[in-house]
Amino acid sequence: MAAPALSLIAIDGPSGVGKSTTARRVASRLGWHYLDTGAMYRAAALAVLRTGVALADRAALERLLAGLDLAQEGTRIFLAGEDVSEAIRSQEVTRGVTPVSADARVREVLVEQQRRIGASGRWVVDGRDIGTVVFPGACCKIFLTASPEARARRRFLELEAKGQRAVYEEILADQQRRDEADSTRAVAPLRQAEDAAVLDSSDLSLEQVVDRIVAKHLAHP
Ligand code: DC
Repeated sequence: MAAPALSLIAIDGPSGVGKSTTARRVASRLGWHYLDTGAMYRAAALAVLRTGVALADRAALERLLAGLDLAQEGTRIFLAGEDVSEAIRSQEVTRGVTPVSADARVREVLVEQQRRIGASGRWVVDGRDIGTVVFPGACCKIFLTASPEARARRRFLELEAKGQRAVYEEILADQQRRDEADSTRAVAPLRQAEDAAVLDSSDLSLEQVVDRIVAKHLAHP
């Protein structure tokens, strides 16, 4: 007999599609926990950048991973007890995380941690490989998409609202570079799970996206 589905909502999709905000809202509606796996890869990348470990130096990387102390409390992420929630959003980390998240050994260690965290159920988890690799037994899988232009436009408006310098064409090009890297890497590339529901958010508000995910979950809890 097949194992019962794990009560966990997996939300995968490309960068800039609003997965984290959506996942956080869905979790709060259901009274579930939320896990941001992108933040885990970003914190691992920050540790690699700070220590100057070269990914090619496998012994040094192994030591770093053995001592990697990550924690998430609410919306904050901690590296060895230090709140790095802002630091992991820097341009440097956003660039540096692509090779780190493509490393098979890094993924092995982080996926193991993610599985341990989510095993109790009642988690909403977002990332790139949650429905395909980390929790293939999740009861509800969503593949959240939006056109590249819609994603870049949202990011542009977000940065403008914060008073930060933003050039739409640069945002679009950077996003395309990350989409390409995430989708073509050898280990756990971004792809839709066969049993995932595709949700295109290009013309939907955040609330509409959240409503649809909650409705889908409640229809098949
Ligand atoms: O979602 P994000 O931009 O915070 O993710 C940061 C990086 O980590 C991005 O390059 C994709 C990668 N990532 C991944 O490979 N697997 C995940 N489950 C989550 C994120």
